[in-house]
Amino acid sequence: MDAAQQMDRQYRYQRYVYDWSRKYYLLGRDTLLQEMPVEAGDTILEIGCGTARNLSKMAYRFPSARLFGVDASSMMLDTARAKLQGTLYENKITLRQGLAGQISYRDFGLEKPFDHIVFSYVLSMIPGWQKALEQTLPILKPGGCLHVVDFSDQTSMPGWFRKPLLTWLGWFHVHPDPAVPAFLQQLATRHDDQLRMRQLPGRYALLAHYQKKGNSNDHQPDIPHLAKYLDF
Ligand SMILES: C[S@@+](CC[C@H](N)C(=O)[O-])C[C@H]1O[C@@H](n2cnc3c(N)ncnc32)[C@H](O)[C@@H]1O
Repeated sequence: MDAAQQMDRQYRYQRYVYDWSRKYYLLGRDTLLQEMPVEAGDTILEIGCGTARNLSKMAYRFPSARLFGVDASSMMLDTARAKLQGTLYENKITLRQGLAGQISYRDFGLEKPFDHIVFSYVLSMIPGWQKALEQTLPILKPGGCLHVVDFSDQTSMPGWFRKPLLTWLGWFHVHPDPAVPAFLQQLATRHDDQLRMRQLPGRYALLAHYQKKGNSNDHQPDIPHLAKYLDF
């Protein structure tokens, strides 16, 4: 079974309760979105956009941005489209099926790479997340930003909480890898890019803003100082 079929199977029924149920444990998503230094007219791609929960919030928060979403699961995208239908955001957000690492800005009819790319609680579901990240950098413009939020190593949480949580996440094909921060740091060092990261309390989740080195005359937003923590 390939990744798309696996995700369709996983979310076939869960998609109906996804937005309601995930707000209790996919923490840090709104903080990540609030910290994105988006400029008028910027293009934003969310990889693993699911039900378009984050894209809807970004459409509200960044009214002049152009928004794009990709997801492995056609079923999740059906739910996203149904949710957006008839809303102000229906024509602002373009969705298509695809896999992380196999997407081009040209798939969306764009001529230039994206200004921002978001990975929200998806890296932990991709077995080859390192390759997916590396293959994503070429579709980010010079000076553009990659924004990541995902489960962290949770080593500051008590064992009675952490172990059952990790077991439960595993049933849903979610496997947080403690190597993510070190890999992002290596990637930034290798490419001479900038990186800011922080952990939510208990090291529950990791937030990262990665800014690609700019070599164009385009405006380059400063990646934010990371100050705030919890949200739903
Ligand atoms: C936990 S949900 C997160 C959805 C959304 N980003 C959010 O924060 O609410 C993970 C999503 O990533 C998608 N996904 C998993 N593996 C993927 C891959 N390799 N490429 C693209 N999407 C993937 C799943 O289908 C699912 O919709």
